[in-house]
Amino acid sequence: MPVSTAQVATTGPAHATRQLVVQLVSHLCEEAVTELAADGRGIITFRQGTCVLAPFGHQLDLIAAAADHDALAGVQRAVTRHLHIASGAELPVDWTEPAAGEDLDLLHPLLGDYLLGQCTPADEVLQELVAETREATGRAAGMQISQDEGAFLAMLVQLVGARNAVEVGVFTGYSSLCIARALPEGGRLLACDVNDDWAAIARRYWERAGVADRIDLKVGPAIDTLRALPAEPAIDIAFIDADKVGYRAYYEEIVQRLRPGGLVVLDNVFLGGRVLDPAYQGEDHVAMRSLNELIVADDRVDSVMLAVRDGVTLARRR
Ligand SMILES: C[S@@+](CC[C@H](N)C(=O)[O-])C[C@H]1O[C@@H](n2cnc3c(N)ncnc32)[C@H](O)[C@@H]1O
Repeated sequence: MPVSTAQVATTGPAHATRQLVVQLVSHLCEEAVTELAADGRGIITFRQGTCVLAPFGHQLDLIAAAADHDALAGVQRAVTRHLHIASGAELPVDWTEPAAGEDLDLLHPLLGDYLLGQCTPADEVLQELVAETREATGRAAGMQISQDEGAFLAMLVQLVGARNAVEVGVFTGYSSLCIARALPEGGRLLACDVNDDWAAIARRYWERAGVADRIDLKVGPAIDTLRALPAEPAIDIAFIDADKVGYRAYYEEIVQRLRPGGLVVLDNVFLGGRVLDPAYQGEDHVAMRSLNELIVADDRVDSVMLAVRDGVTLARRR
C-alpha cells in the first residue's frame, strides 16, 4: 500500500496548528468520514484512502495512504485543496514520493551504524560470535540481534532484577549470552529453540563466556517447553524472538507465568515496516498485527512499543 507524507510549516501561534486540524476535519466531513482524536490528530477516511493530520507546534504532519498510486494522488489532492481553503493561504505541501511498507526508512543506515557505537561495547566473545555466525549461517545471520539490542536486553534484565529468565529463539546464542551474563549469581535462563546445529554454536560461546551452567537449553518446539513449565508466576523476564506466527501462543504462556513487575520483550514487532501496511496479508503480518493490538488491549500488562531496530515491545505484568 503506497504511503506518502508531507510536513507543512504553519504560521501563527502553536495552537493555530491544532485549530487548523479542527477546521480541516470539519471541512472534510462532507466527503469523508472524519474523526478528531483526543490528542488533537485528525483522521480522515476517504473512499479511496486515509490521511492522518498530526499537529506538532508550528508543523502539521500529513500521512496519506491508499490502495494504489492513483488513489493516493486523489487523497493528496483533496487534503491539499482543503488545507489551502482552511488556512486561507497557499501553504507549500511537498508530498514525498509514494513508498510501500517495506520501503519505509525505519532506521537510516547512518543512525543504525551510529547506535552500534553508542552502547557498552561488545567484548571479544560476542564479536567472534557475530563473525562465526556470519560465516557459518550466511543469510540467516541477519536473524541475530544487534549489539545495541543486546546491550538493551542486558540492561532490562538488570533493571528488572531478574533471576529467572526465558528466551524463545536462541539461534547461535547472542541474545542468550547477553541475558545470561546480566543475571546475578544463581540466576537461570531457559533457552528454547528447534535447531540443534545453531544451538551447538551457541553452547561453545556460552562455555567461553563462563555462563553455560546457568542456561538450560531445550531443543524442540518452544510451545511444548513453555506449556510444560509450572503454572506459578515465577518468570522475571522473557525474550520472544522466534517464528512470528507462534508469538501469540508464546506470549500467552509467558504472561500467565510472569511475576508482577515481570517483563516480556518481543522482537521484530514491525516486521520491516510491513505491519504498518495492510496490503501485507501474509501469515506473519496478520499474526503480528493482531498480536500488537491484543497487547495494547491486554489489561494484565502495561506496554510500550519502541522503535529499537525492527521494533521491540515491552509488556510489564501489572
Ligand atoms: C530470529 S532467530 C533468534 C535470534 C537470536 N535471538 C539471536 O539473538 O541470535 C529465531 C530462532 O527461532 C527458532 N525457532 C523457529 N521456530 C521455533 C519454534 N517453533 N520453537 C522454538 N524455536 C523456534 C529458529 O530456529 C531460530 O533459531
